[in-house]
Order: sequence, then C-alpha cells, then structure tokens
Amino acid sequence: MQGSSDQGGFYKLSMAERIKLVQKLTGLTEEEVKTLRDTGGLPEEVADRMIENVVGGFTLPLGMAMNFLINGKDYIVPMALEEPSVVAGASKAAKIARVKGGFKVTNTGPVMIGQVQTVGVKDPQGAKSKLIRRKDDILAKANAQDPLLVSLGGGAKDLNVKVIDSLKGPMVITELIVNTGDAMGANAVNTMAEAVTPLVEEITGGSVLLRIISNLADRRLVKATAVFEKEAVGGEDVVDGVVNAYAFADADPYRCATHNKGIMNGVIAVALACGQDTRALESGAHSYASRSGKYKPLTRWEKNKDGDLVGTLEMPMAVGLVGGAAKVHPAAKADVKILGVKTAIELAEVMGAVGLAQNFAALRALASEGIQKGHMKLHARNIAVSVGASGKDIDTVANQLIAEKKIRMDRAKEILDSLKK
Ligand code: MEV
Repeated sequence: MQGSSDQGGFYKLSMAERIKLVQKLTGLTEEEVKTLRDTGGLPEEVADRMIENVVGGFTLPLGMAMNFLINGKDYIVPMALEEPSVVAGASKAAKIARVKGGFKVTNTGPVMIGQVQTVGVKDPQGAKSKLIRRKDDILAKANAQDPLLVSLGGGAKDLNVKVIDSLKGPMVITELIVNTGDAMGANAVNTMAEAVTPLVEEITGGSVLLRIISNLADRRLVKATAVFEKEAVGGEDVVDGVVNAYAFADADPYRCATHNKGIMNGVIAVALACGQDTRALESGAHSYASRSGKYKPLTRWEKNKDGDLVGTLEMPMAVGLVGGAAKVHPAAKADVKILGVKTAIELAEVMGAVGLAQNFAALRALASEGIQKGHMKLHARNIAVSVGASGKDIDTVANQLIAEKKIRMDRAKEILDSLKK
C-alpha cells in the first residue's frame, strides 16, 4: 500500500471519492475501479445506506434451483453463491424427492430470545424469583417498544430467567422470548432488551451489561423431511452408503463439520439471494448442532421398510421478510418474488427443504461416484477462464484438461498458448 490506512474522515467522502482514494493507496487500475463501482443493480444511495464506507458492489452468480415441491407447493429457488455443482445438486435432489411427494416441512414459529446480563447481584437466586414475579411488568415494558409488532400478534410473550456460573462469578440472565412475526427480529429484540434494563436493575439491585439477541434460535426451528425413492437414488447400495455417511458424521466431528457445511451450501445460497443475515444463520446452525455438548449433524438419514431413503433436517432458521435487506435490496426483492413466499415462516421452510436437498445431493455423490466428477467440468472451465481463455477457447481448454486428467493452471496455460499460436 502506498500510504496509511488511517484516513480520517473516510466515511464522510462520497462513494466516488472513497474509491479514488483507495485507488491512489493501492494502485487499482481503472478497469478494477470500474468493476468495484458496479453495484449490480443496487442503487448507489441504497448501497451507501446499507453499510459504511461503501465504494461499490460485489456480485455473485445467481442460479435457480428447480423442481422443488414443498408442502405441496411448487417453488423455483434462487441461489447466490460461487461454488459449482450446488445449484445442480439441489435441483437433482428436488427432482428425486418429487417422486415421493416432495418435502414436508414444519416450523416452531418465529420466536427469538433476547438476553439481558446482570452482574453484581448479591442474591442471584432471590433476584431470579423476583424477576419471575415481575414478569408481566417486564413484558409490558418490552412490548411498549413495538406496538406494531404487538398489533400483528407478535411481541414479547414470555420470560426465562437463569443464574449462570461464569469466570466472573454468578450472573443473572433474563431472557425475553419474543415472537418476531415476519421480521428476523434482531432490531425488535435488541430494542426490547435495552428498554427493560432500568426495570431489571431495579428488581435485581445489580448492573445490567449486555442486552442482545441470541443467535442460538432454538425456538425458531424448521423440520424438513423427504423420502428419496430407492431406484431414483441409485439403488440399495447408494441408500446404504448415505446412511453410512450419516453414521460417520454422527460419530466424528471432523466429518460432521463437512456434512453440515454441505447443508449450509444450500441454506446460505438462498439466504444471500433473499437478503438474509447469513452469519446469524451459520451461528444458529452450528451452535444448535453442538447443543448436546457434542457437534452433531443437522440431518438424519435412515432406510424405511421399502428400502427408500428417508432424510430429516432440524435446525434454527432465523429469517425475515420485513425490516431487513429483503425489503430494500432490489435483487433480494426480486428473488423473494420468484420464490413466492408470503411469510418469514414460509421462507424458513423453503430454506430447510433446500438444506436437506443439498445434504442429500452431497451424500449421494459421495456414496457413489464421488463429487469430483460433477465438479470437474465446471472447475476445468474456471481454470481455463483464470488463465485468460475466452469464447470458444474456454471449452476447448477445459475439455482437453479433462481428457488428460490434468486440471491444473500450468497445463491450461500451455494449452491456451498453443491454441493462440
Ligand atoms: C462441498 O462444498 C460440500 C461437501 O463437502 C459436503 C459433504 O461432504 O457432505 C460435498
């Protein structure tokens, strides 16, 4: 870098001024500046309001996963991601699931938890009892923050109080149980948690520190199931292979991390396309997977009496259609329209089905031909593009790499050079 990154007032500059300064400091070419400035249909002023220090946009490919039949309704599912084979895998899995009626998904409602941490309490158990006795007052204070949510049937519905032992001694944790309706709910819950602070301090005699939503959204679960017909899966051996793959993940956290990653390939791609908080979803998924004290798969696979494969997914799915990017990002709005979901719950259910489909696609490939075969064509094309191939040369280079079983940059460059000669 030519200069310091300590550029006071950077945030006050316009987008054009910011990128110019970054260009000066980092030596970006005009072409690179143009690429970064492209907001891909997101109006600049919207981008500039969404986060800080905005210079432009970042676009990912958007694919459509087809064939999804969920609770008897057909869906085209938009997925935004950089990884080959994921959209194809989801579409194929959904097609196989259709044979036996598609995905059935249920949910536990849009319920989130807001935590209020109180320290310095002389009698933590006594304070817990007092907080529980004042439950109605605390909930009323929380609900006064969001009359609209309450009028729509949502709001703070219950209170949970626990005393935890910590590195800094006992703490009293007051949890607001909030129905967030069609919102993901972080704003509503955090506002409520902050608003009840004076009351909680008055009741406990302690000092409130953190007031924040929990991303372990274990009261906002989706449960998706599907039957994958034996022949369509590829026969009994593949069915048994998938069940064995699940047993491996259940027994071993190293495998389980990759098993769950495959699920998140689907969940996060839909989340990104629909303007959701992907970090909250990841955090919720993995903390839920660890709730027993051991890291476990978010899906379960078994064989039924007909020899068909039955998959079940259960995981938190904190998503929203109001109050977030789903309402302001034009691409997210269009994707939600494609999906045709009317409520946050419906979006969550679709994402659960996609997670299950994605896991099925990965396990089926792993339990039969392996995943590289499907990956290789796209991978070879990416390698060809990355060494500078364009137009018809992309396929020529990729096909030769595959034929030679040498999907490497150095070989791609040699092939491209010889084509150019
Ligand atoms: C790759 O992105 C995802 C997989 O590794 C998932 C899995 O191993 O189950 C294929």
